[in-house]
Amino acid sequence: MDDLMWVEKYRPSSLAELVDHETIKRRLQALLQKKEQLPHLLFAGPPGSGKTATAVIIARLILGEQWRDYTLSLNASDERGIDVVRERIKTFARYTDRREGVPYRLVILDESDEMTADGQTALRRIMEEYSAHTRFILICNYSSGIIEPLQSRCAIFRFQRLDEASVTGHLAQIAKKERLKHAGDAVFGAIYEATQGDLRQAINLMQAASASGELDMDSVKSVSGATAKSRVAEIIGTALDGDFEGARTKMVELTRVYGVPERDFLKYANEALGALKVPDMARAITILAEYDYRLVQGSQPELQLTAMLAQLSALKGKGD
Ligand SMILES: Nc1ncnc2c1ncn2[C@@H]1O[C@H](COP(=O)(O)OP(=O)(O)OP(=O)(O)O)[C@@H](O)[C@H]1O
Ligand SMILES: [Mg+2]
Repeated sequence: MDDLMWVEKYRPSSLAELVDHETIKRRLQALLQKKEQLPHLLFAGPPGSGKTATAVIIARLILGEQWRDYTLSLNASDERGIDVVRERIKTFARYTDRREGVPYRLVILDESDEMTADGQTALRRIMEEYSAHTRFILICNYSSGIIEPLQSRCAIFRFQRLDEASVTGHLAQIAKKERLKHAGDAVFGAIYEATQGDLRQAINLMQAASASGELDMDSVKSVSGATAKSRVAEIIGTALDGDFEGARTKMVELTRVYGVPERDFLKYANEALGALKVPDMARAITILAEYDYRLVQGSQPELQLTAMLAQLSALKGKGD
């Protein structure tokens, strides 16, 4: 076994290799019949479902092996300012290649729902200005984070969380190729349970759980527990740092997307507090205990955890 990350090693390089998403694949294939008329595309859906992978496959299908030379990949959340985005897109889209096999250039804009509304409005103009020689693929988790005028300029593809059979089947294939010793197909089911249709996370979990040599229920359990635990610790750290929005976003992702139960969240949060330097430890623990009680009472869990993070964030600046 080599050191390569399996998510990279087994990244799909053609639509045929892409697991699940049958309707999406069919629609894309139909659109690609007439490359020149391809509209801008918007991919929306949960993490690890193959949006970025699909965008790269399309780039390959349109531009061939030289796709990298004619594709600009931007991560909207890295390059926050619209000025930077505009400059980079302008510089890139200015070229009008009339080269064999290059009908237009591609801009892949990942996490485009993280752009501000102003940024998106500017983007809309840029798209219009350069659409003769450029196509955009916008990628986001929630299409509701994309302004209406942008949505209406794109063909929208909604990616769903992968279903259990697709995930377990894919894991079984990788296990076979890696010649993994494993304790039967039930382990794949357990990995699916822990990752809820996020194939990236499922593959990562399988790789981590088999690092010791054998893939079995125990190793799956201990690895998935550990990752949830360390993520909660990170979220608590973020909150105590005063970054309420950051903490809240990560918490929602962890509970909604990864399905970590709210009570577990509090249990891990309590453990994490012990390891952190908190100026007002007593107050922090009181806050946790209070929300633990509310959850037992059956209050709306996400709202409660959000309120808890708000209170923890507010501690910042009071103790020091
Ligand atoms: N439908 C799929 N078929 C095959 N492999 C997949 C699929 N979805 C995800 N994967 C695997 O997971 C990895 C991550 O997928 P990808 O980066 O495309 O997810 P994403 O939807 O863009 O997620 P994010 O929203 O977090 O960016 C891929 O490299 C691949 O190994
Ligand atoms: Mg992605």
